[in-house]
Amino acid sequence: MIPQHVAIIMDGNGRWAKARFLPRVAGHKRGVETVRTAIKACIERGVNYLTLFAFSSENWRRPTEEISFLMQLFITVLEQEVVKLHENGIRFKVIGDLSKFEPKIIEFIRNGEAMTATNTRLTLTIAANYGGRWDIIQATLKMLTQNPELIRNFAEKDLSQYFAMNYAPEPDLFIRTGGEQRISNFLLWHLAYTELYFTNTLWPDFNANSLDLAIQSYQQRERRFGQTSEQLQKPKPIIMQ
Ligand code: IPE
Ligand code: IPE
Ligand code: MG
Repeated sequence: MIPQHVAIIMDGNGRWAKARFLPRVAGHKRGVETVRTAIKACIERGVNYLTLFAFSSENWRRPTEEISFLMQLFITVLEQEVVKLHENGIRFKVIGDLSKFEPKIIEFIRNGEAMTATNTRLTLTIAANYGGRWDIIQATLKMLTQNPELIRNFAEKDLSQYFAMNYAPEPDLFIRTGGEQRISNFLLWHLAYTELYFTNTLWPDFNANSLDLAIQSYQQRERRFGQTSEQLQKPKPIIMQ
């Protein structure tokens, strides 16, 4: 089966550039091209939701020049690409704490989301100034503000509707490029039962073939959700006509 929702930590841009004696930001620029490739490959393979970690709440700790470059790149990409996404039937969404961004960026995001809201071919979510812990806190605050009676007790489903990505199913496949094997405060709640895949390939080198390898690995997994293998293999009863 093709994973319905793929979530990716796009890591390794800096190392890709360093290996070529280029400034780190050259890797980020190249990484944008990989984003285009990944979107196209996901559509071709029938993936319905693609979620990309573009900037974490911890990335503000980077050198000021690198942050400014990333913000400028984000603006340029938003300006140039959102219309193309729309033409290709892609719904565009952004999750994260947008309050830290320039008003111009927020406006681009909101306009892009509104323009593409009814598209159904692929939902592309960009996680920007996103942190899994931030998401859990903001969801809890929103839930309790709107339903103060829940302070005594609440269930998973009461909370899950307040997460930033409440419009998507939980990811089936998580991919991290760049060789690190950690979550780095990405979708903490949502990855509870996601299949994890780590590759040494640096994000600018990731291509359709790399995605196929990840999907192949996913297809070999048995998703048990707490059950035993035998329970899953139990033949379905034959219904007599
Ligand atoms: C990921 O690449 C992109 C962002 C975090 C914006 P890095 O910039 O983390 O690249 P490495 O890990 O230094 O190679
Ligand atoms: C995680 O990458 C965030 C993004 C890819 C946007 P980092 O490269 O910043 O992660 P750490 O800090 O090495 O864990
Ligand atoms: Mg990194």
